[in-house]
Amino acid sequence: MHLSENAISLKDRNIKSNIAEVKTTSSNVEFVILPYYKSLEEVPNKKNLFNQLNDFISRTDKRSTIAILTSPIFANDFCTQLKNDSYLKLWIAVKLTNPIEREDYLSDSHSALLIITRYKESLNHTKTRIGYTYCPCCDKTTKDYGGKKHLYHEFGTLMSDVWRDISVDFERYPSGVVNRLCDLFGLPQYKFVNVYDQRKYFKPIDKKHSFGEYPQTENIYSEKSKLLNGDCIGQLKKIPDNSIDFCFADPPYNLNKKYESWDDGIDIQKYFEWCDQWLSELARVLRPGRTLAVLNIPQWCVRHFKHLNRILDYQDWIVWEGLSMPVRMIMPSHYSILCFSKGKPKPLPALVRSKNTSFEKNAIEMQSENFCIRANCITKRKRLKIKDSEMASNVWSDIHRLKHNSRRVDHPCQLPPMFMYRLISLFTNENEFVLDPFNGAGTTTLTAQQLNRRFVGIELSEYYHNITSQRHNELSSGLDPFRKINDDKPKAKNSRVARLKKQKYEVSKKALQLEIKNISKQIGHIPTKEEVTQNSQFPIKYFENYFTGWGEVTAAARTTGMTEFNQNGKG
Ligand SMILES: C[S@@+](CC[C@H](N)C(=O)[O-])C[C@H]1O[C@@H](n2cnc3c(N)ncnc32)[C@H](O)[C@@H]1O
Repeated sequence: MHLSENAISLKDRNIKSNIAEVKTTSSNVEFVILPYYKSLEEVPNKKNLFNQLNDFISRTDKRSTIAILTSPIFANDFCTQLKNDSYLKLWIAVKLTNPIEREDYLSDSHSALLIITRYKESLNHTKTRIGYTYCPCCDKTTKDYGGKKHLYHEFGTLMSDVWRDISVDFERYPSGVVNRLCDLFGLPQYKFVNVYDQRKYFKPIDKKHSFGEYPQTENIYSEKSKLLNGDCIGQLKKIPDNSIDFCFADPPYNLNKKYESWDDGIDIQKYFEWCDQWLSELARVLRPGRTLAVLNIPQWCVRHFKHLNRILDYQDWIVWEGLSMPVRMIMPSHYSILCFSKGKPKPLPALVRSKNTSFEKNAIEMQSENFCIRANCITKRKRLKIKDSEMASNVWSDIHRLKHNSRRVDHPCQLPPMFMYRLISLFTNENEFVLDPFNGAGTTTLTAQQLNRRFVGIELSEYYHNITSQRHNELSSGLDPFRKINDDKPKAKNSRVARLKKQKYEVSKKALQLEIKNISKQIGHIPTKEEVTQNSQFPIKYFENYFTGWGEVTAAARTTGMTEFNQNGKG
């Protein structure tokens, strides 16, 4: 299922003692297995367990890596208590073998595998790939690699931080995870994978969560939908308490994105203090029983959890795997939708509604695992009446990030409309109020309008606010605001790599990349620019002008290339 490049697979050892009694002397991968706590009340003597975990981490060798497997709610709470000398490097969502059905709510389908180090530098691990999966209908790869097949490896794609090819059953020993850790960290730096199964020492206790109590309110917010231009905190203060049915926030991530009027690279402490302010305002305006959902990278969501857990009730950690091209050794593809409710959550509106329009049904059902999205395969499935969808769980892998420029307007990080259709359909009913304090190019408010919900969209930038207003006008006059537009490419970009000018290629980029692959084979290494000038049949200016950098020019030479057909199956 996985393939680790140059790994010297580590040996695993079962250490039977309680972590409080363990001494570690060499640098290892220390793997701690805890129970899957469904609520924090189930944790026996939580403070003591946090102390034991932190003391254990402090006793490990400075070059060690610590992996902790547990439930998302416990993982969140523990991360907020991590000591300053340890670093949360990754939050890996690992599929549950047996999803936990929850009454009137999405089934819970994932566990949390925290990867923590004692060292600050980037995580040391092997280059590990996950084998391709194949569509059960057409037997081609689940993802359509289009004209980029020469840029991918024959075995599979680089591992992401959502593991769905293996799963964990908390009643059993997680051998799939142990095996993977042995290969993923199969480097000379580590000696063993030491497994500390602590489930018998910290068994969950039978205690139910007591929800915060709020007076029940009628829908007092009789206003019409509106788009507000200004700072969200100032604008939110004008909205009455307990008036909004669903708050959704997709804030700037403080990751140096180029926004029109917002500095997306402020000091991290200031960033979180600012986040706490708008989160408190959202909690105030939210109606009792309803949901506030924040989209962010897992490391930042952990910090949002810390604040929200003081003022609202934890509801869910929805994993959104928005896959794109591999960019790092472990592809960060995991965004979390951290959901908190105000007091006891109402049954999920989408589940309660008896009659869904087919449009909405489409949004709350997700594609069953491994079915592809090739148009001809979808048509075939319809014709053959093959069931390829199921009710959404809390792991979403079927919605891809918006990549095609023809579907984007001039904003660097628009969400895919299907993502917002699903959230709004799940958490609200028609005519209810949806609020987005970072409305950007308006994905939230536009989808809300399409689904007959009322909305409040707040956006700081006048430029983005105007784009959104114009798109709402288009929608009101019958145009699809998410239609393909073949005008000039938008100026805004989602990545820091410069965009190339629109141009006509004399030779396809693929042909040039394959040429480099050939040269590489002849000379035995990845060629330099000079070597390409000497050896290529094409002028060097093609390579200079058609690619954003030398890494892209030589990309095909660094991998084997792949085929979309299942070599082992019938295809
Ligand atoms: C991640 S983007 C949201 C994109 C949006 N979900 C979409 O699909 O178009 C964050 C947005 O927040 C806006 N923003 C930043 N600071 C703000 C503030 N203080 N108040 C309101 N909006 C703000 C930025 O201009 C940016 O458009």
